Amino acid sequence: MFNNFPLWPERASSVAGNVDALFIFLLIVSGLMTLLIFACVVYFAARYRYRPGVLAEQIEGSLPLELTWSIIPLLVFLVIFFWGAVVFFKERTPPADASEVYVVAKQWMWKLEHAEGQREINELHVPVGRDVKMIMTSQDVIHSFFIPAFRIKQDVLPGRYSVAWFRATKPGTYHLFCAEYCGTQHSGMIGSIVVQGPAQYEAWMNGGSIGGSTGPLSASGEKIFAELGCVTCHRNDGQGRGPNLQGLFGKQVLLEGGRTVTADENYIRESILDPGAKIVNGYKPVMPTFQGLVSEEQLNALVAYVKSLSATKPGQASSKASASTDALQPKGSQVE
Ligand code: CUA
Repeated sequence: MFNNFPLWPERASSVAGNVDALFIFLLIVSGLMTLLIFACVVYFAARYRYRPGVLAEQIEGSLPLELTWSIIPLLVFLVIFFWGAVVFFKERTPPADASEVYVVAKQWMWKLEHAEGQREINELHVPVGRDVKMIMTSQDVIHSFFIPAFRIKQDVLPGRYSVAWFRATKPGTYHLFCAEYCGTQHSGMIGSIVVQGPAQYEAWMNGGSIGGSTGPLSASGEKIFAELGCVTCHRNDGQGRGPNLQGLFGKQVLLEGGRTVTADENYIRESILDPGAKIVNGYKPVMPTFQGLVSEEQLNALVAYVKSLSATKPGQASSKASASTDALQPKGSQVE
């Protein structure tokens, strides 16, 4: 619509159209209201201007009038509210089968690691037409992950994960900005999102990446899990001093005291860094903290490993963790 008149950044994700439609609706409603108010001001100024000998008539209130100017705006605002809520929830809810990218922000760069193990700095390669979920955290201060062409912006906070997702709809290179002032070189904390066709992306995955791959993130996590001695307590047979982590991710966990929590990324992160915060029912608070002993990257790998223990179908767990290309194939064929 605005190809030769770029008032908007390019629309390159599945939600961009929804966000723009809502924004255009808001513009039209505000524009019409502004026109209406100006027209009334001009008309009333002329109609009720001072005339010698004519006295103003006082009106003590009018129920129909007051109902009209209360109910009509209420309906308009409710439309905006529900429409906005629908778009918001769509943007906030990553599809379950999205491929995952772990993002670590720091002054002043973006470090990105694909679940398959590819690492990138200030650049993210993604295939067109596939849902990509970003699990993001910061090493220092608050940053904000902003891709205008995808209409997504999400604060990235130290000490926890925040999540964003998108499905790119057009191959191309798009700007990535930090949208939260984070120090002197905040304006330089930029990067690009490279959206590629399935074949190109496959080629990039298999060696085009600059940082190279150290194997799937979950496999690195498994190594760290063994090195830190986690395996001695978190045993698969349920006989260990810590809870069995098989099939844990995404489940409800019953805690000491009767509370339940969902085992999501933030729960696993917290259980590693602050194990005493949420004690699983029936276990003792004996786990030491790993605060300061693991880097953000290692934490991400551990989280990816715990997740890989909960692959949805039985038998999938092992193949998912071991062969990245296998995991790619079926999804890649979807978009062709
Ligand atoms: Cu990071 Cu601004």
